Amino acid sequence: MDLQEVRSKARDRLRGICRVCPVCDGRACAGELPGMGGKGTGAGFINNVSALAQVRLNLSTIHGAGEPDLAYDFFGRKLAFPVLGAPMCGTGRNLGGIMTDREFIRAQVDGAVAAGTLAMVGDGGDPALYQEGLDALRLQGGRGVPIIKPREPEEISKRIKWAEEVGVPAVGIDIDGAGFSYMNRMGEPVGPKTVAQLQEIIGRTRLPVILKGIMTVKDAVAAVAAGAAGIVVSNHGGRALDHTPGTIEVLPEIAAAVKGRIRIFLDGGIRSGVDVLKALALGAEAVLVGRPIAIAAVGGGAAGVKIQLDQIAEDLRTAMMLTGCSNLEQISPAVVRVPRSWL
Ligand SMILES: Cc1cc2nc3c(=O)[nH]c(=O)nc-3n(C[C@H](O)[C@H](O)[C@H](O)COP(=O)(O)O)c2cc1C
Repeated sequence: MDLQEVRSKARDRLRGICRVCPVCDGRACAGELPGMGGKGTGAGFINNVSALAQVRLNLSTIHGAGEPDLAYDFFGRKLAFPVLGAPMCGTGRNLGGIMTDREFIRAQVDGAVAAGTLAMVGDGGDPALYQEGLDALRLQGGRGVPIIKPREPEEISKRIKWAEEVGVPAVGIDIDGAGFSYMNRMGEPVGPKTVAQLQEIIGRTRLPVILKGIMTVKDAVAAVAAGAAGIVVSNHGGRALDHTPGTIEVLPEIAAAVKGRIRIFLDGGIRSGVDVLKALALGAEAVLVGRPIAIAAVGGGAAGVKIQLDQIAEDLRTAMMLTGCSNLEQISPAVVRVPRSWL
């Protein structure tokens, strides 16, 4: 099985749900939420992909970086490359129920582990979804990161406790899910959190806590003040608020403000190893990949997810070689050119 076969199988299975476009850029599926698209006009999703396309790479081949080392240390776990699976669940809402959440989540987790990295797992209106994620991670010896919705503080702490028992390296909160009215309708209230509330939640666990869904310098600084160990610069793949900028556009200013004080990750529109290189050059340590992994899970299960992740790693290796980077530390802003207005 190769990536083309995986994607072609996914296209058949996802008929009427996702077109599996040659470039997954949010245009054909704009507003298809629930589903695979971005919210409203779809601009948040579209901006993620189009902003990444505005970053150019400086090709350089007169150097000694022939065999790039992609290894990344994620809170004490050695990963083969700095790319993780983004948390995705809710197959009933988003994938027309073509597979169960158990199958979908296990394909993501098992495929990521097989590729030498980790996946994050999500949370939803049906409390069983979070449990499915924890079960999948338990079967893999805790290799993965549970991401909890911004529920009432006590509810978050309860779920962090369950995650501790599974032995995961870190846990997170997708704080940009604060406006998900479907959660409230299902009797699982969510909402914004103050720094004091986050401090309290984070203070109750020994696990590093990652705040996913940071799009401003102000929130990044607040995440540091709250004691978070990491942030994901993310707009939830354009699914939380319409007309958010591309995540890569806001990364340089966020990195200028907090890099070195907190781990910075990024997601949104990452489609290839070249995109990974761009994100690392502009201040991220590692990235998450969403929809391409979902498509690969539908088309080829865990094997499909591994094939997709391996392809991204291979592209990253080549891109590092052709920009003169022999390890992740050497990836600097010098390898890219960006529109002046971003800096
Ligand atoms: C079908 C689907 C389900 C998702 N479920 C979750 C979730 O449960 N928790 C979460 O933090 N993010 C969720 N996300 C957002 C992703 O984790 C990620 O931020 C986003 O998809 C990244 O953009 P990309 O898909 O363009 O790579 C979901 C995204 C999709 C497409």
